[in-house]
Amino acid sequence: MRLKSKVLIIAGSDSSGGAGIQADIKTVTSLGSYAMTAITAVTAQNTTGVKSITPIRPKEISNQIEYSAKDIRPHAIKIGMLHSKQVILAVNKSLNKLKIKKIILDPVMVAKGGAKLIKPAAISFIKNILMKKVLLITPNIPEAEILSGVKIRSSKDMIHAGKKLVKLGAKNILIKGGHLKSKMMIDILINKKSVKEFRSKKYNSKNTHGTGCTLSSAITTHLSCGKDLIKSCELGIKYVNDAIKTNTNLGKGNGPINHLNSIILNKKFK
Ligand SMILES: Nc1ncnc2c1ncn2[C@@H]1O[C@H](COP(=O)(O)OP(=O)(O)OP(=O)(O)O)[C@@H](O)[C@H]1O
Ligand SMILES: [Mg+2]
Repeated sequence: MRLKSKVLIIAGSDSSGGAGIQADIKTVTSLGSYAMTAITAVTAQNTTGVKSITPIRPKEISNQIEYSAKDIRPHAIKIGMLHSKQVILAVNKSLNKLKIKKIILDPVMVAKGGAKLIKPAAISFIKNILMKKVLLITPNIPEAEILSGVKIRSSKDMIHAGKKLVKLGAKNILIKGGHLKSKMMIDILINKKSVKEFRSKKYNSKNTHGTGCTLSSAITTHLSCGKDLIKSCELGIKYVNDAIKTNTNLGKGNGPINHLNSIILNKKFK
């Protein structure tokens, strides 16, 4: 298989391998592209929860971004966990230097088990600086509520929150429906011109650790290969849905999904 594109991931490390940088690398790789990373924090976690978080110095994060991208220029960038104002400002400065158009921001705030992954004071910097800069932002329902100030209980509320974020300067918002009480899974893409609803099968599974990181990385990979935004979201959702369906039930808590669902191993390596 020939490499389809190059993607830079700016995010936190998940020692259990199911979310964060690890999920991002697996996703980009299994979809045929080349993954580079800038690690923003190191977390010690497993499927039952987060034990500790060690932040990486902002200067070191900038070095990783700028030095990697200077040598191998990425077609697109995915941003995940940014835990403090200083980190957000450093990442923003580096992005200004790179001038890459396809940037996708997953505004990670809380882990599945409830651990806070961002300092409250940093949220306004996500909203006022990064949200307006990126091509797409992919909040889950609690994150969309915090960013928009709209309480979300239905798909109508998701659209209302998304439209509010457009008014605040966001270009495209994909609000993820994983936290919504609904029969089908509903993710909604909102921008100035249109509202596009994606419906998929909802699985009654505890193994959904890293679905959000995986989705934003899959969308970034498809965008990096030249697909349009709607197609990239559609294919990203399909990849996550199939990865939940084929999960291998690892760990005692919220286990990982199956990132390998898109790969067929070459015979000569078996
Ligand atoms: N039980 C499920 N069945 C099918 N799809 C799901 C399920 N849970 C989540 N998804 C899908 O996974 C993607 C991520 O949504 P979710 O709302 O879980 O993000 P998140 O809360 O950011 O995840 P994370 O906890 O990994 O940060 C969406 O496309 C959503 O539709
Ligand atoms: Mg998330």
